[in-house]
Amino acid sequence: MTREPAALDLHDFEPERERFRADVIQGLRRPRKELPCKYFYDERGSKLFERICGLEEYYPTRTEIAILESHAGEMAARIGPRPLLVEYGSGSSTKTRLLLDHLEEPIAYVPVDISREHLLESASLISDRYPELEVLPVCADFTGHFEVPEPGAPYERRVGYFPGSTLGNFEAAAAREFLAGIAEAGGPGSGLLLGADLDKDPEVLEAAYDDADGVTAEFNLNLLRRINEELDADFRLDRFRHRAVYDAKQTRVEMHLVSVEAQTVRIGDETVEFERDESIHTESSHKYTLEGLAALAGDAGFAVEGVWTDPARLFSVQLLAAV
Ligand code: TRP
Repeated sequence: MTREPAALDLHDFEPERERFRADVIQGLRRPRKELPCKYFYDERGSKLFERICGLEEYYPTRTEIAILESHAGEMAARIGPRPLLVEYGSGSSTKTRLLLDHLEEPIAYVPVDISREHLLESASLISDRYPELEVLPVCADFTGHFEVPEPGAPYERRVGYFPGSTLGNFEAAAAREFLAGIAEAGGPGSGLLLGADLDKDPEVLEAAYDDADGVTAEFNLNLLRRINEELDADFRLDRFRHRAVYDAKQTRVEMHLVSVEAQTVRIGDETVEFERDESIHTESSHKYTLEGLAALAGDAGFAVEGVWTDPARLFSVQLLAAV
């Protein structure tokens, strides 16, 4: 059965194509080539990421969901009544429902996502499911500046929601700045419910980012496909391969696209040279300890109000309170 999506008022800050082109060219002109990971999430990339979340090897999603299923009641109690919930990178809003089911009289939900179609689809599903809730979708790069729309009804506490292991995709300084920005925007007493992946066996980590079915490889390569389509480029997807490697010193998994041969790629009217085995660094996923996270939160102006983990301590969800 198809249903009519609810008409929602979109606050649209979708980054422009020129910005995309400039970021791509700039990243590929660096001595160590890189591409910003936020560009993974076009519609196809968002769908592929959904598939990653269901993979046997990708433990973070199901572990975080299990933590929410066991503890969302306690989280909601700590958050308190009538919150305004702002989700950074809302995707399909699947985990949000587990939280919304327990929150006491949530006033409004502001999902922020860079992928417009995906955002609107998920936002209208949430709106259908929680008719009392004001849903105010914002299409924006959540790492940049955007206005949080003011809900019609007064709320008690502004609470950010940042699940997944997206925090880990920032470098340390950028993670601190991002968190500090949330603490500042929310003001003293505001909260942030944060998902964070914990450090563990490198084999488990590498498998999570390089699954046997090759979905993660397809997701990584989709970035090149997207550049081809949107920026008139001629990357040959079979001439690059996905590589995931754990760096113990930096406690992070790095994702790369490795050129299988020396080649020249055209992007619009520019060209980029690749040596054989030269890589494009597309993303890092940092893994934390609970102590490291508390220190990071502290540096950003947050105190830890609650910590929930799974029995195997694979993943953690934290409630932070701005001081
Ligand atoms: N935020 C996710 C993570 O770090 C993103 C992700 C999962 C990802 N798998 C990936 C990014 C593979 C690039 C390639 O866990």
